[in-house]
Amino acid sequence: MTISVFTTNGHTNGHAKGVKRHSKRSSELGFSTRAIHVGSEPDPATGAVIPPISLSTTYKQDEVGVHKGYEYSRSGNPNRDALERTLVGLEAGAGHAIAFASGSATTATVLQSLGPNAHVLSVNDVYGGTFRYLTRVAKETMGTESTFVDLENATDDEILGAIKENTKLIWIESPTNPTLRLIDIPRIVGLAHRAPSKPLVLVDNTFLSPFYASPLLQGADIVIHSLTKYVNGHSDVVMGAAILPSLSTPDRDYEGLVQKLRFLQNAHGAVPSPFDSWLAQRGAKTLAVRMKAHGLNALRIASFLTSHPAVEHVIYPGLASHPLHALARTSLSPHAEQFISNLPPSSLAHGIPYGGMVSFRLRGGARSAEALLPKLNLFTLAESLGGVESLAELPARMTHASIPAAEREALGIEGLVRLSCGIEEVEDLVDDLRAALDGLEDEDSGYTYTVIVSGSIRWYIALEA
Ligand SMILES: Cc1ncc(COP(=O)(O)O)c(C=O)c1O
Repeated sequence: MTISVFTTNGHTNGHAKGVKRHSKRSSELGFSTRAIHVGSEPDPATGAVIPPISLSTTYKQDEVGVHKGYEYSRSGNPNRDALERTLVGLEAGAGHAIAFASGSATTATVLQSLGPNAHVLSVNDVYGGTFRYLTRVAKETMGTESTFVDLENATDDEILGAIKENTKLIWIESPTNPTLRLIDIPRIVGLAHRAPSKPLVLVDNTFLSPFYASPLLQGADIVIHSLTKYVNGHSDVVMGAAILPSLSTPDRDYEGLVQKLRFLQNAHGAVPSPFDSWLAQRGAKTLAVRMKAHGLNALRIASFLTSHPAVEHVIYPGLASHPLHALARTSLSPHAEQFISNLPPSSLAHGIPYGGMVSFRLRGGARSAEALLPKLNLFTLAESLGGVESLAELPARMTHASIPAAEREALGIEGLVRLSCGIEEVEDLVDDLRAALDGLEDEDSGYTYTVIVSGSIRWYIALEA
């Protein structure tokens, strides 16, 4: 079998040793083929099909300055290089990937690359750790100024009005964490290009992963991931990456930015270990099959939740009833679009798979949510997301506790339950949720109801408490 695998990754601290060149460009291969082969070529020294883990911290030089591409493992390591090549293969439109020891280290490095006294315009419902870094670290150490705007609902004039002379970056998450607000990325890119300061547009693509969304194809300048989540996918690695397009434009010097980020990667030393890089690369090989299963399970779970009387509101942009469902559809990556268009109509009766995250609110509010979570068995009550196993959490008390209470209230985070739908048998997950919801005490659920089961049909006879 001959498969064409090469990337356009222009590493300065490694080389593409072992990368095969065959008939097809890597960008012409399908998503799963790229995930499995790009960056994971058989080892030229031994023929090992799976790349060996290179634990050495230092590399022999034949003469001073003459070496095989590696000198010291912080500045360059074969496993990190291999993972970075895989990431270039995964994130459509990418030319460069730079891996860090966590998603948070990626955030810190990108913000530091802006220099002192920059202004950042951020979506208001941003990941709690990003909010904390902007307001409590970047502000104190670099004078970074941040404005948080509801980029889902703000008008063009409001957004343009919030862009200042020193605005260097617009920070987007879509869908946001945890309220799953959807941002129209091409619209924000268009506004960024119209603004005199021409800020870069960054998309934190952690929630949808490179499978469901390709923000670089929509005009974004930087994509970041907490690889800790879907890309690694097995809840056993903490890691992050920044991914950029290959070709600079008159307004966008990507090569210059990549050089700056690589310099900071080495200077800070917040680099992932060879073993973690190897694990994340292994995880990434199954990203497509996992993301398909996450999405189908999440869609089924979201539609089940809408039918339960204890549930007040379900947020899943894949649901046809979601107010911005049309935007979810148009935001899909080419490979997700292809996956969905090949699904049988019966799978799409309630909407489309759109990542694995579902948030919902109970009629009984925060008290009810706290009562629900310990009743779940297959959904583990835990922070994080994106692993094969299902997780459930209360963002206001857990992942988003660092956001001030008044802001959490205004954003709609209070009382919200966030599910990371895993890839277990979906009916087992639905049964787990149903049993926990049915088991809520009347005072917790804000509802009094009787359940009558007749064959496969369940009737809820409900009265407001
Ligand atoms: C959307 C998002 N971005 C960034 C991060 C930070 O990543 P890490 O935990 O790998 O530092 C997280 C962590 O939960 C996240 O959810």
